[in-house]
Amino acid sequence: MFKTVLLFTLCFSFSLAKHEHYDGYVVYKITVSDKQQAERVYALENELLFDVWSYAAPSIPGLVLVPGPMRERFQTEVGNIGAQYELQVDNVKEVVELEEKLLTTAASRSKKRPGRLSFDKIHRYAEVNSFLDDLAEKYDTVTVVSAGKSFEGRDIRYLKISTTNFQDTNKPVIMLQSLLHAREWVTLPVTLYAIEKLVIDITDRDLVDNIDWIILPIANPDGYEFSHEHIRFWRKTRSTGHTITNLCVGVDLNRNFDYNFGRWSSDIACSEAYHGKGPFSEPESQAVRNIVLEHLNRMELYFDVHSYGSIILYGFGDGILPPNGLTLNLVGVKMAQAIDAVKWPSKPNYLVGNLGLTFSNVSGTAMDYVQGIGVPLSYIHEMPAHNNENNSLTGTLVDPNYIEQAGYETWEGINVGARWVLQNARRNKH
Ligand SMILES: *[C@@H]1O[C@H](CO)[C@@H](O)[C@H](O)[C@H]1NC(C)=O
Ligand SMILES: *[C@@H]1O[C@H](CO)[C@@H](O)[C@H](O)[C@H]1NC(C)=O
Ligand SMILES: [Zn+2]
Repeated sequence: MFKTVLLFTLCFSFSLAKHEHYDGYVVYKITVSDKQQAERVYALENELLFDVWSYAAPSIPGLVLVPGPMRERFQTEVGNIGAQYELQVDNVKEVVELEEKLLTTAASRSKKRPGRLSFDKIHRYAEVNSFLDDLAEKYDTVTVVSAGKSFEGRDIRYLKISTTNFQDTNKPVIMLQSLLHAREWVTLPVTLYAIEKLVIDITDRDLVDNIDWIILPIANPDGYEFSHEHIRFWRKTRSTGHTITNLCVGVDLNRNFDYNFGRWSSDIACSEAYHGKGPFSEPESQAVRNIVLEHLNRMELYFDVHSYGSIILYGFGDGILPPNGLTLNLVGVKMAQAIDAVKWPSKPNYLVGNLGLTFSNVSGTAMDYVQGIGVPLSYIHEMPAHNNENNSLTGTLVDPNYIEQAGYETWEGINVGARWVLQNARRNKH
């Protein structure tokens, strides 16, 4: 019954006008009092089909998106667990429309910045691509590379930034990535801002001279475009073939990597956390893997930007710490403090912690795979949530006023991480 209702909702959503899909959807805030409750709430996402926007931990309330017809079921399930819930958004369609209105208004006033992208809008795939091409044409330090094609055939493009064309094998490599999850739009300005600071408006020359950078702004281009065109909170890829009728589309890329694959994720194709047919079943996760493998002996820091929670997480997702767990925590705290120093006062301070211990066991993340194959510092970086006065615009929804700040404040953290790498890269240790 439960699943039937959701399938019905999914099935008919495409024939409706934009955002009608979310008519009657609500968002609940969940508060858990211990780790067991957090784990059981997490399991609701994998076993049932609730879309968890942010995970609950004993000190951190979570948010869950629930279709109207499933409200009762949700309340029963959460009640059985013993967790508390509270209605946070009573009509999701309205807040999606509010975001669109705010973004459209801001974009209509957008000031042109010759040779640069503006930081008052969320740029689409094609705009980002032509920006990357322009940079490569104009700057000797920049190369554009395609890591392969997405399921729908879009190039998965990344920048290589290097003063020595990646030929100096003594330099450490740092990789920054955004939009592995399609709906997390506010992560894009983070990588675009970093590109600007490393190519156009260089204030930290040593970071450009002494590090080779790989920046992948749109890791999931199909899902990203789909979230703009159709379903705002689309998170997965757009691959088909998971169910006979192809009713349920897409794979959660951050469950599709080969680390503990399938243990704490969903094998239900309609779930937002569906892990796919097997590790690396998706061309998008293969692309990320191939980039990392190509530079494995020099890659020191992998920074995967997500939204949201104001949290810097490190591996492993099963709560077992890598041998350098203390260093991961230390560098995470240094990055968090640098961001806290310049963040908006209304945002909470960053938390830093191990993914499995802070929330629940999670499997198949890119972060864990990259850590597991030997990159010393691998993080999931969860940006702050936006909350306007009445809390209507929340979660991954974007406040246009925050776009530039998102890039600026996170760069402060990346800067500190990069400086740590310069001091402590493996090549320095004999
Ligand atoms: C999480 O993973 C660890 C390590 O495999 C295991 O000991 C623990 O029981 C797991 N917790 C849950 C709730 O599955
Ligand atoms: C919430 O606040 C926004 C401005 O931040 C406003 O545009 C919107 O109408 C408000 N919504 C409600 C339901 O009060
Ligand atoms: Zn994410």
